[in-house]
Amino acid sequence: MQKILIVDDEEVNRELLQEILKDDYEVETAEDGEQALHKLQSHYNEMAAVLLDLKMPNIDGFAVIMKMKKKGWANRVPVLIISSDQTVEAENQCFELGVSDFIHKPFETSIVRNRVKNAIELFNYKNQLERKVEEQTETLKKQSEIIKIQAEKLSEAKPFNKLMMEYNAVIMEIETKLKVLNAEFSEEYNRNPFESIKSRLKTPESIYKKLEKKGYPVTIENIREHIADVAGLRVICSFPDDIYRLAEFLTKQDDVVLLKKKDYIKSPKPNGYRSLHLILSVPIFLPDEKKYMKAEVQFRTIAMDFWASLEHKLKYKKKIDDTDEIEQQLKACADSIEDLDYQMQEIRDKIDTHACAKEDWSISL
Ligand code: GTP
Ligand code: MG
Repeated sequence: MQKILIVDDEEVNRELLQEILKDDYEVETAEDGEQALHKLQSHYNEMAAVLLDLKMPNIDGFAVIMKMKKKGWANRVPVLIISSDQTVEAENQCFELGVSDFIHKPFETSIVRNRVKNAIELFNYKNQLERKVEEQTETLKKQSEIIKIQAEKLSEAKPFNKLMMEYNAVIMEIETKLKVLNAEFSEEYNRNPFESIKSRLKTPESIYKKLEKKGYPVTIENIREHIADVAGLRVICSFPDDIYRLAEFLTKQDDVVLLKKKDYIKSPKPNGYRSLHLILSVPIFLPDEKKYMKAEVQFRTIAMDFWASLEHKLKYKKKIDDTDEIEQQLKACADSIEDLDYQMQEIRDKIDTHACAKEDWSISL
């Protein structure tokens, strides 16, 4: 039988409540706040609930709740107030302090029985959920620590470092290809198709996590086979049409294999994310062999890049309130950016046409 503590300075109330609850619970009683706290001190863990009167000499019900909160007992035991105080203020104050229920005196037998039962069940349910979340958080923390340790081991392994060197080489190959295209393009069109290139190698930790998530053991073969973005390049262009032109020039080259194309410019993600992603396989030349390596190349405009870096921050800051509002704002910004990109492109075209016309005119002179 679960234990319950009844705290009331009036004997008749204690007896009435005891009578109502004795069939379902083992009932303990306390005549005032002091006695209640004393009993809780050593037995709070055994109590399924505390039924607490508010007005009592010396230590009153409010003081008992405060003390229970301070000691952390209130997280373990639900408190139900049984009081003749009819004011909304008193009731509100109790709920603000976290009590589970407020029963008015004079009380009805069946109501007391049901509300005590409900309060205990709800409290247990809530505690169980909280405990589960705590356990899961702890497991996740442990897993992430294990992954960190494993990833550290991985980064010390010679074959892994050789593989990373090869991914680094493919980044250099693609960078060179893009730089050559930039030079050719600027000859032809009198401007640079891209503003800058950023590159990065995936960290051992993130490689480890990705393979685990996909359900593959961490081996050199599985990294090669199942992770396409160990080598990552980001090409920041001025205008959307430059993106497509550059991507076409690059994939047309006969040693570049296009494995996958994701066009988030034509079909943006629901959050508003826009970029063109290419998964390529490009050869690197080692002393004794030619090896094809995968790389992910993301093309975006300056404005899309600006947007994506801000949106990325939202994903990693978990404790932001108003996430919905920020998401909506970001989506609206993404739409404006799309407009802006094409308007800028139009302006560029007009300037280019104007420049040509002027040139033609000067020639005809
Ligand atoms: P990953 O497992 O994260 O690589 O996703 P995926 O394999 O489904 O590929 P996807 O093409 O969707 O995304 C690849 C990369 O693009 C991500 O790692 C990010 O760098 C970038 N990216 C994709 N979606 C978003 C997005 O919604 N916001 C931002 N900021 N970046 C994104
Ligand atoms: Mg990725």
